[in-house]
Amino acid sequence: MDSKFSKIGFVLAVAGSAVGLGNAWKFPTLVGQSGGSAFILLYIMLTLGVGFVIFLAELSIGKISEKDPVNAYERLAPSNKKAWSCVGFTMIGAILIVSFYILVIAWILKYAFLSVSGALPMDLQASKAQFGILTSEDFISQFICFTLVFFSVFYIVSKGVKNGIEKLNIWMMPSLFILLLLMLIYAISKEGFMMATRFLFIPDFSKIHISNILEALGLAFFSLSLGVGTIITYSASLPDRTNFITSTLNIIFINLLVGLLMGLVVFTFIFEFGYDPNQEGPGLVFISLATLFEKLGVMGHVFGAAFFISLIFAGITSAISMVEPFAFYLINTFNMSRKKAVILIAIIVYILGMLCILSSLKDTQFHIFGVSFFDFLDSISSKIIMPLGGILASIFVGFIMKKEALKILFEPYMKGLFFELWYVFLRFISPLAVVVVMIVALLK
Ligand code: TRP
Repeated sequence: MDSKFSKIGFVLAVAGSAVGLGNAWKFPTLVGQSGGSAFILLYIMLTLGVGFVIFLAELSIGKISEKDPVNAYERLAPSNKKAWSCVGFTMIGAILIVSFYILVIAWILKYAFLSVSGALPMDLQASKAQFGILTSEDFISQFICFTLVFFSVFYIVSKGVKNGIEKLNIWMMPSLFILLLLMLIYAISKEGFMMATRFLFIPDFSKIHISNILEALGLAFFSLSLGVGTIITYSASLPDRTNFITSTLNIIFINLLVGLLMGLVVFTFIFEFGYDPNQEGPGLVFISLATLFEKLGVMGHVFGAAFFISLIFAGITSAISMVEPFAFYLINTFNMSRKKAVILIAIIVYILGMLCILSSLKDTQFHIFGVSFFDFLDSISSKIIMPLGGILASIFVGFIMKKEALKILFEPYMKGLFFELWYVFLRFISPLAVVVVMIVALLK
């Protein structure tokens, strides 16, 4: 990127990248499918034991090299520069993700319109039908909403991330948070709340399946934007003398909190309205919240619109962070103008995004390797590319980069035992955990 972030700008940008549909949509969906609390416990453990560790590794690569992922590995590797630079291409994973991610933002946009026009469904059954129709029959709405979100994302990236998002983040994050808190307060007064709390916080390991562990790991990577070059890219503009350890811990905390709050609200109403969290798939959040807002009458419509809009912004700041690494790479490597780089990426994303829409329409059902194209992009990025990118980043920082250089970088913020502890996790525990989880899940 062209210049450094301001200190607060960096934290906001990374928090803006981290907090998004991973917390608001993927987290509740996976928690619902995986039986709740035990999955959450796993997710939290993996976030701290693996996510946090790899986050700092990627941050070191970005900060020390001040480059995009491909050039960063190339610059920092003492030998085999070309081979290491290939690891930077895991950023292609982010392009795959953004293609279906924009579609999910597009669904939220559609729901924002539905809230404003008072066309939300009255009960869960109707809500389920409505979501089903949107994704399996309504090409036009998905096409229009996708195109609108798509242009907003690429317009902001074309202006440069720093100018584009600092102001956006400063308003949207707190408002999302306040709306979530208000919803939580309302939820507490409901009977479903106790059931939701039990479902989310009292671990029942009998419900956990081996494959859930890989899901939890994928989610930990996804929600911290790891493994595909986002953190490397943003850290390339990390201003000097920023306490990046406290920043990282804050970001991780906010990220977990938003997921948990969202989970509490969504599941309260799933239980309140008598539904089974296990059954709803990717529509869970939409089905639960749309019904809630409709039941609250006119106030609910206004509130719902406000809530969906702040989710859209949270999603857009994340989507931007998926496009930026590749844009930064094209600009650095081929001397391309930002505009040209952005147009090139935009064309690819538009095509992939359209294929995602076609994959769930009942007339087209575009499938690949036996799953819908949407699920295919989601699975290869979360279950393969991100964990792989994460392991390679930790091996690179742990074994290839000089420990001295890291010590100098970390010295003012984390030293002594904590630094050594991180270093051991980085070299052995985190990569091993990732490999074991991947192998076990793939063999099952
Ligand atoms: N972390 C974001 C979320 O939870 C998504 C995201 C942003 C992301 N940048 C990324 C995911 C890079 C993977 C890779 O919604």
